[in-house]
Amino acid sequence: MTEPDLAKVAYELRHELAEHLVGEGWLRSPEWRAAVEDVPRHEFVPRFYVASDTPGATTYVPITPELVGDEAWLRQAYANETLLTQFDGREIDWSGPQPISDANPTSSSTLPSLVVRMLEALEVDDGMTVTEYGTGTGYSTALMCRRLGADRVTSVETDPGVAARAAAALERCGHRPRLVVGNGLDGAGLHKPADRTIATMGVRNIPEAWVRETQPTGIILATLRGWMRSLGLVRLVVDDEQTATGRFIAGEPHFMIARQQDAPQSLGMVPGLEDGTTRTTPHGPELLRIYDSGFVAQLAMPNARFFTMQADDGPVNTYVLDSTNDSFAVLSPDGDGWTVRQGGPVPLWDEVERSLALWHTAGAPGPSEFGVSVTAGSQRVWLGTPSGPSWSLPIV
Ligand SMILES: C[S@@+](CC[C@H](N)C(=O)[O-])C[C@H]1O[C@@H](n2cnc3c(N)ncnc32)[C@H](O)[C@@H]1O
Repeated sequence: MTEPDLAKVAYELRHELAEHLVGEGWLRSPEWRAAVEDVPRHEFVPRFYVASDTPGATTYVPITPELVGDEAWLRQAYANETLLTQFDGREIDWSGPQPISDANPTSSSTLPSLVVRMLEALEVDDGMTVTEYGTGTGYSTALMCRRLGADRVTSVETDPGVAARAAAALERCGHRPRLVVGNGLDGAGLHKPADRTIATMGVRNIPEAWVRETQPTGIILATLRGWMRSLGLVRLVVDDEQTATGRFIAGEPHFMIARQQDAPQSLGMVPGLEDGTTRTTPHGPELLRIYDSGFVAQLAMPNARFFTMQADDGPVNTYVLDSTNDSFAVLSPDGDGWTVRQGGPVPLWDEVERSLALWHTAGAPGPSEFGVSVTAGSQRVWLGTPSGPSWSLPIV
């Protein structure tokens, strides 16, 4: 494909993408639509991987112009899909890319519908400044540059190689925002707080620097997550006292966790067969995988993870472990019900049951009934109102 043909097809695909995002209700304002129609996403993803539909384990397949041809590559680049550009923090060898499985994505161009949904929720106006955490490919940074002007955009990326590629792509598209390479959990080193703060990586709590570097009445938009799952997208308003309060926005956005907050490699001590005390429980481990109850369980056990293991020819047990304090709960089928064997300083399943009871008393609402309050010394997720039942987020 010649350069002009490529530009023409890309132009058409951008408009198709914008049309699709409008049709689905994600893209609502003319300003953001103009940005999607204008920013060439393919410049930010010259080579990438996409998740394949193979049943079972997730496999990622490479998409490059050399492998699939210019047009197929362009079509993928403008699909409403997440495009993976790094795994396990390592550079991809593009000289002979192979399908990848058993790997953890660590950088990407986020799903466009999620990008625009977040940008719409940011409620920007002309003249505002924005800080973005998680530059990634630079595509969302470019959309903000197009909407607000590059001199009003700061973006922070922890991975120097990723940051360098994003900087080059932004430059190719004529945008020169302030790009910072470093740990965004420490802020962006702003002299003047920004009007808006947006994070495209998941965090276990809201970094204090993000509140400090956001203007009073300004908005922070970020995805909170734990080691079991994502809690969701939260929209906080900062006040004069440097506290921030707001609610989860409905939905289930899922972002890769900030690198510095990833779960430790080791799951910790796996309990022996005789450890702990056993009782029956009305709640089996399936609640951990169901969306709404899993949200409550994540709040109740902020440092926990779980896995299943079959004991010889015996039942499949679910191990819930908190490696930060060696607490455990082992769930085993028992006739039509379940038993739980717990040990360590925190009775994890008691915490889950207590939280579920509070949640059921409130009518078992979805995440949009929960909110978050961030003050200097504490971060709480509450149910209903800030004075309702609440759970502490880990201070990390
Ligand atoms: C989902 S990607 C960002 C997508 C990006 N906004 C785009 O449109 O291409 C998340 C990025 O956050 C970066 N990241 C992870 N931890 C970070 C941290 N502590 N500070 C800054 N960036 C971080 C990752 O390296 C990754 O590139």
